[in-house]
Amino acid sequence: MRISIIGTGYVGLVSGVCLADLGHEVICVDIDAAKVARIERGDAPIVEKDLTELLRRNIGSRLRATTDLAAAVRDSEITIIAVGTPFDGESIDLTYIQGASREIGAAMAALDRYHVVVVKSTVVPGTTDDVVTPLLEEGSGRRAGPDFGVCMNPEFLREGEAIDDFMNPDRIVVGGIDERAQSVLMDVYAQFDVPKVCTSNRTAEMIKYASNAFLATTISFANEIANLSAAVGVDAMEVMEGLHLDKRLSPILPDGSRITPGLLSYLSPGCGFGGSCFPKDVKALIAFGQARQLPMRLLSEVIEVNRRQPAEMVRRLKRHYPDLRGVPVAVLGVAFKPGTDDIRESPALPIIQELRSLGAKVSILDPIASGHLIRETGWSDLIVLETLADAVAQADALLIVTRWPEFAELPALVSRRHVVIDGRRIVPKGIACTYEGIGLE
Ligand SMILES: NC(=O)c1ccc[n+]([C@@H]2O[C@H](COP(=O)([O-])OP(=O)(O)OC[C@H]3O[C@@H](n4cnc5c(N)ncnc54)[C@H](O)[C@@H]3O)[C@@H](O)[C@H]2O)c1
Repeated sequence: MRISIIGTGYVGLVSGVCLADLGHEVICVDIDAAKVARIERGDAPIVEKDLTELLRRNIGSRLRATTDLAAAVRDSEITIIAVGTPFDGESIDLTYIQGASREIGAAMAALDRYHVVVVKSTVVPGTTDDVVTPLLEEGSGRRAGPDFGVCMNPEFLREGEAIDDFMNPDRIVVGGIDERAQSVLMDVYAQFDVPKVCTSNRTAEMIKYASNAFLATTISFANEIANLSAAVGVDAMEVMEGLHLDKRLSPILPDGSRITPGLLSYLSPGCGFGGSCFPKDVKALIAFGQARQLPMRLLSEVIEVNRRQPAEMVRRLKRHYPDLRGVPVAVLGVAFKPGTDDIRESPALPIIQELRSLGAKVSILDPIASGHLIRETGWSDLIVLETLADAVAQADALLIVTRWPEFAELPALVSRRHVVIDGRRIVPKGIACTYEGIGLE
C-alpha cells in the first residue's frame, strides 16, 4: 500500500522503515527539515537497534522522507499521524495533533477518492472522533464516512526494542469510524498473524492508556514495597523473587519449567520510571479523569511514588557523604532505559540536578546518551566519561541509574574506597566496596 506518515520521531520513523521493509511504499513527513535531510541520507536521527540498517535498505526505493505533507497525502492511500502528544502541566497538549489534522484536511480537499487517516499518537479517549475528525472535515470540505475514513491505531513499541516490537507485535488494535476504514488499515497489517482488536476509536484510545497506566502502576507498586522492605531490614529483591513465583505471574509448564513474563521486570526495585510515555500518559489520564469528576486516586499515587523515587538515590549517598561538596560522583546511565538515547523524564535528570545543587563534582557515563543530555540541559559543568574504568578511577561514589548491561562489570573494577548506590539492583550486594541498593536496608 502507499502510506504517508506524519511525524518522524521514535514512532513515526520506526513505523516508516518497518512498513517499507514489509513491502509498502512509505513517505515519512516531518516539519523538521534537518531531520528529513538526515533520513534521506540514510542517517537515522535517533538511536535504535537495527534502525540504520533497515533505513539504508529502504531509503530511496520504498521509503522517502519529505517536508511536503500535502504531496505525501496526495501520493498515498492512507495517512498515519505519529506526532508528539506532550503533557502541558495541566492536560494533554494536542497542538501537534491539531496542526497535523488541519494540514491533512487541507491536503485531502484536493483528493477525489477515498482516503484513510489513522491516529497512531497516544491521545485521550474522544480525541480522534471529537478533535481530529472535525478538523479533517473542516479542512477538506468532505465527510468522514463516505468520503474518507478515520482510524485510531495505538502503538505499543518500547524504545530500545522498537524495531523488534513493531515487527513482532503482541496485538494490533484497530479502532475506526466504520468497517470500511478499518479494512483499509487491516490491509496495512495483513502480514501480521497476531490478535487484532477491531473496535471503536474511543476504545482503542483507552486501551493504550490502560496499558501504560497498568505498567507504570506495577513499577510504583514494586518501588513502594521496596522502600518499606528496606525500612524493616528486608531485601526487596528476595521479596520480589518470592512474589514472581506466584503461578499467576510465572505460569508453570507441564515439564515443571516456568514462563517468565516480561512483566516481572517491572516488578523490581528501582529508582523510578521515565521516558516519553509513562509519565506523560499517566498524568494525561489523571487530568482526563479529573475533568470528568473522576479523580484517578491510584494513578495519582503512582506518579507521586515515582516522583519521590530518584531522591532515594541521593538520600542513600548522603548517608556516606553528609556533605557532598567537591565529592566526585559518577552517574552511570542517563538514558531513561537501556538501548535508547532518549533522556526524556529520565530519573537521571532530578538525580544530577540534586547532586549539582549539593556541590558534588558530577561526571556521567552512558554508552549513547551523554551528548544528548548535555545538549538538552546545558549542564556543561558535567564531566563526560568514556568507560566504566574511567568512572571507577575518577569517582568515589558511583550511582547506577540506567540498567545498561555493561554496568554489571562494576564488581570487577571497584575497590574498598568506593561507594556504589545501585538504582537498578544489577550488581551483587557482596561487591567489594560500600554497597547500597534500592530496596535494601
Ligand atoms: N516513543 C515511544 O516509545 C512511543 C511508544 C508508543 C506511543 N508513542 C506515542 O507516539 C507519539 C509520537 O511519539 P514520539 O516519541 O515518536 O514523538 P517525537 O517527539 O519523537 O516525534 C514527533 C515528531 O513529529 C514531528 N511533527 C510535529 N508536528 C508535525 C507536523 N504538523 N507535521 C509533520 N511532523 C510533525 C516533530 O517534528 C517530531 O519529529 C506520541 O503520542 C507518543 O505518546 C510513543
